[in-house]
Parts: sequence; C-alpha cells; structure tokens
Amino acid sequence: MAKQVVADQAKGMVLSRDDTNPIYLQICARFKTAIAEGRLVPGDRMPSVRALASELGLSRGTINLAYQILAEEGYVEFRGAAGTFVDMRLRTPEKSGAPPPAPRGVLSEQSPNARPFQLGLPALDAFPRKTWNRLVSHCSRQLGAGQLGYPQLTGLPALRERIAAYLALSRGIACQPEQIFVTAGHRASLGLIMRALYRPDDGIWFEDPGYPVAREFLLSIRARLHPVPVDCDGLMVEAGRRLAPHARFAVVTPANQSPLGVMMSMERRTALLEWAGESQRWIIEDDYDSEYRYNRRPPLSLKAMDRGERVLFTGSFSKVLYPALRLAYLVVPQSEIETFERACRAASAGCPEFHQAVIADFMEQGYFIRHLKKMRALYADRRQLLVDVMHDVFGDRVTAISPPAGLHLAMQFQGYRAPASQIAALAQAEGFGLQPLSLWHMGPQLIDGLLLGFTNLESREMAGSLARRLKDICIAAGRERRA
Ligand SMILES: Cc1ncc(COP(=O)(O)O)c(C=O)c1O
Repeated sequence: MAKQVVADQAKGMVLSRDDTNPIYLQICARFKTAIAEGRLVPGDRMPSVRALASELGLSRGTINLAYQILAEEGYVEFRGAAGTFVDMRLRTPEKSGAPPPAPRGVLSEQSPNARPFQLGLPALDAFPRKTWNRLVSHCSRQLGAGQLGYPQLTGLPALRERIAAYLALSRGIACQPEQIFVTAGHRASLGLIMRALYRPDDGIWFEDPGYPVAREFLLSIRARLHPVPVDCDGLMVEAGRRLAPHARFAVVTPANQSPLGVMMSMERRTALLEWAGESQRWIIEDDYDSEYRYNRRPPLSLKAMDRGERVLFTGSFSKVLYPALRLAYLVVPQSEIETFERACRAASAGCPEFHQAVIADFMEQGYFIRHLKKMRALYADRRQLLVDVMHDVFGDRVTAISPPAGLHLAMQFQGYRAPASQIAALAQAEGFGLQPLSLWHMGPQLIDGLLLGFTNLESREMAGSLARRLKDICIAAGRERRA
C-alpha cells in the first residue's frame, strides 16, 4: 500500500517551470508537505529515481538532486539496494518512545466489522486460513499471461462445475454448469435477475420480516415490493395472494427464513410453486445459509422440487467461506440461459477470477465439505453458549424464538421498559453489532425482539461478559425512556 500511496503522491505533484523555485526544490516541497500531512509516514518507501523521473517526465539528475536534499535535511534515508525510505527518525515526539511501527500492509489492517453479537459474519477465528493460504499461493504461482485478460463473464468454468456438483449433492439440484452465473454477491445476483426478467411495475412479494439489504437494493432500483407476512411455516402464500394478487416475483428464504430461522413447510412450498406455475411467475430462492441447521439435515431446496422451472436459486460464499470474497452465484433454468447471458454482457465485466480459482480448488480437494461439517458443530456449540449465558444473565426475561439454525438468534425480552429498537440503538452506540427485529419489517411488526449473532463468541467468559453488558444497556434504555 505504501508504495501505491507514494506513487499516487508522485502523480499528484503539480510542478511548474514558471515557479520561482527550481523544479528539484518544488519536488522537495511536495514530499515535505506529504510527510507533514501524514500521507507519507516513516518507513514508507519512496518511488525509485528512475520511476519518478519517468512519471514526471524529468531527468534522473533532477530527482537525484531532490532526494539528496531531502536526505540531508533528514526527511529520507537511503538504504542501498533496498531503496529510499521516509526517515524512521521523523516519528512524532510523543511516539518516539514507542517501538518502530511494523511494516504497513493493507491486509494487516484490522477489520472493523467483528463487533459484539455481530450479525451476518461467519466465525472469523475458525476459518482454515493456513489451508486457504496454501491454495492461494498455489494459484498465484500458476498465474500465467492467460489469466491477465478480462474474466469470463459468467464465472470461471472450474468453479461453476464445482458449484453444480455441490448443489446436486447437498441441495438436490440437478443443473448444468452453464446454468450457473457467478456474481459479486447477493445484490449482484438480484440485479442480474431484475435486469433479465423484471418488467416495469411488476410486483414482488417480499417476506416480512425479511432481509433489509435485499429490500433496500430492490427499492433502490424502483422495484415494487409487497410485504407478505411470515409465520412458523414460512411465507404465508395465501396472504400474498390476497395482498398482491398480480405480483410476478416472490423473494423467499425457504431453508432458513431470514431472520426468524423457520423452515418453509411442505404445504407452503407446494402452494408457492403452484402460484408461480399458474402465470409464469418467478420465485427467487435465497439459499444464503441453508448449510447451518443444527438439529436435523438441511431441508431440500425449493429448486429441487421445481418441475416447472420457475425457481431462480441464489447462493453465496459469504457465510460458508467468508464475506470479503464477495462471491455468490445464481442458478437459472435452462430455458433462460441466453436471456441471462445477454443481461450479463450488458451490465457486467465478470468477477475477478483469482479467488474463484481458489474456491474451486478448495471445493475440489474436499476442504469445503470438511469445513462445513466443522463449522456446523462449532456454531451449534456457540449458539447453545449464547442461549445458556443469556438465560444465566437475564433469567426468564429472555426467550429465544428462532429454531436451531442459522448464524444468529432472535430473542424476545420481557419486563424492560424500552422497546427492542431502543435497546438496539443504545447497544449499537456502544459498539454492538446486534440488530432490532423492527429493522427487518416493512409492514406492521408482530414480534418485538433483538437479533444476536453468536458465530464469533469465542469463549464462555466473552459471551457472559457481553450478556452482562447487554443487560446493563436494557436497564439504561428503560431509564432513558422514563426520563
Ligand atoms: C438473507 C441473506 N441473503 C443473502 C446473503 C448474502 O449476501 P452477500 O452474498 O452479499 O454476502 C445474506 C448475507 O448476510 C443474507 O443475510
């Protein structure tokens, strides 16, 4: 990163021959300003004389002279063949007693998003980084000129094949790799579907409560959403028929309703497929974390029951691997492949292939299935840990309302003066990553509660101390409400 920063500083240098200062002094001044403003810090590598001369269209002698002056004034140091660096002795006085900073690198920066009870993250501590890094190294050693052009629009063939094999095995879906479109995340999958099939004014049934990210995305492209309530059997198909009889799409999470975790019953699945078949409607099956069900095998997908080819199936690597990958996929019916390829060509340049290749290797070598198995056991334990500590700390004032599935727990709180939305706001202000159920609702809210992520609870002590902090917040929220 440092190298890039320095190169950018160099590009941004506006030098003028009309200036009363000679060019080499103008260069010195620009670097001094960059250091004073913290855009360059001690230890950053300066661009090589040759590179900077070429970048600025100047002679190497001019740059050499500027660097000599900077070195004499203590701004930079020459380290022989290693290059020229911003002088370490420039550290600010208050930091001068501290040990020298570690070399910077973008990947060493702390991720800001693993907050207490954070929703939507897999267990970051348990990802098999060693194995993964080995596969990354292997793929990077294989990088040839052929991989430097534009990526394949619909995804890396090797990955599409692995996904097809995995879906056949674990989700009961019989599809060809050509039906699979690799995308840059769930929103990109939805975007592709909308571009390919949505017509102005089409109505969309949207689960209520339902995933706010998808909701915001669809609203942002002016899709017409109709909230349809969810009960313990999943989306209420009859209510959908009553509330929005002319809708053409339904977005559902049948394996693991987001956020309540309930599984869509067989009756509702049949009813939904029937609804879609009647007038060539589309069901978007969001299968984001069906792998995580702790008391029984994952249910078969809706797509596996889809005789009429009305289901568009979306999956993501965010929960089963990690979200920074930004890779997901969409399975479309055979009959729609061309339509989706056209939509893809119009609006996408494909996804970077490097990590697609790593995932394909990870799956092909059997690590993926092993990882899922290990994660299922770990999450079952961490979920139970959260249930236990919440009961220890809150007693019967708290009830877990979601079944043993998914990566978070929906909980109701009794006997506190503040509603869950207010408790959540206060908790978020204190750095918690939990969410109120109200955020997931479009229509009238039937259940008040909080959604708590448990995937990153690494120990009982940690879970207990977070639960106690949350209890204090519940009490404080009630006090604020009274005041
Ligand atoms: C309901 C739901 N669908 C899909 C996804 C996957 O989204 P993405 O692929 O953008 O990470 C998530 C992630 O949190 C989710 O909660």
